[in-house]
Amino acid sequence: MTRPCRITKAVIPAAGLGTRFLPATKAVPKEMLPVVDRPAIQYVVEEAVSAGLSDILMVTGRNKGSLEDHFDRSYELENVLRTKEEHGKLSRLTSSAAGADIHYLRQGDAQGLGHAVLRAASYIGENPFAVLLGDDLIDARDTLLARMAEVHARHGGSVLALMEVPREQIFRYGCAAVAGTGEHDVVRVTDLVEKPSPDLAPSTYAVLGRYVLDPEVFTVLRRTLPGRGGEIQLTDALREMCLAGARGPVHGVVFAGRRYDTGDPGDYLRAVVQLAWEREDLGPGFRSWLGEFVRSNAPRVPAVQGAGLE
Ligand code: UTP
Repeated sequence: MTRPCRITKAVIPAAGLGTRFLPATKAVPKEMLPVVDRPAIQYVVEEAVSAGLSDILMVTGRNKGSLEDHFDRSYELENVLRTKEEHGKLSRLTSSAAGADIHYLRQGDAQGLGHAVLRAASYIGENPFAVLLGDDLIDARDTLLARMAEVHARHGGSVLALMEVPREQIFRYGCAAVAGTGEHDVVRVTDLVEKPSPDLAPSTYAVLGRYVLDPEVFTVLRRTLPGRGGEIQLTDALREMCLAGARGPVHGVVFAGRRYDTGDPGDYLRAVVQLAWEREDLGPGFRSWLGEFVRSNAPRVPAVQGAGLE
């Protein structure tokens, strides 16, 4: 087993096609869709920075130039706001990438998440690193990455983020077979299946878009053949590491906090409403409007069966 070492680099894959959100994502990357007043990707970058991962590689693709523009300086706009003494707006403008050192790499063909991660191999080198999916939003109050880094520091190997989902939802996710460790929120991952049907799923633990990975993953990904959907699946490589990993175990941190898949229209709506509701500045007005909206539409709201809006 390799000795765990401190994680300083993060990879943010953001090259997916975003077909679930068409037509919005025809010309606008799904990561740039606003969640309240900032693009979804900004929450992800802020999460990485607050976990101490300021050295970031973003894997992008065609039509994703606005991601780079968003994290670049906008001198013209800054000057206009400075001249008008609009200091609040100016600080919101300049805070988009505060503390982050972001590098960009094009994936080329979008051959799957595993392929996007493999493209980061030479940037990452020989040390463990984090992966944060660009469309997966974890509430800033839930310090998932810090907990994963702490588990990695003790056990080495790789660490996945897991979340319990209703069995009928598991077909949307990678699913982990697990064994207990004695710690309430840490499990040993013994096997993985990508998007299993509910009756064949080994558990109801879904894999979320946060990973701490040993660089062994690159060796495995190089020989991983296209799997489900004809794509190189990160789950397939992680499965091999669970079953026969030469460089340490795969653990899972069971996350019970707030998380949204902003690439899914229903989950995106939930993210916008919940985060707007909780905002100190916008929240009071939004809450009273939403309360009134729900009251006045109550007779028309059908009984809720599960959370899905899809
Ligand atoms: P998704 O499963 O959400 O796929 O990717 P997608 O293509 O982005 O979106 P849909 O399903 O068509 O709506 C999970 C993560 O992997 C990245 C995505 O950007 C997202 O963060 N990804 C996926 C890549 O970077 N490259 C790929 O080739 C595929």
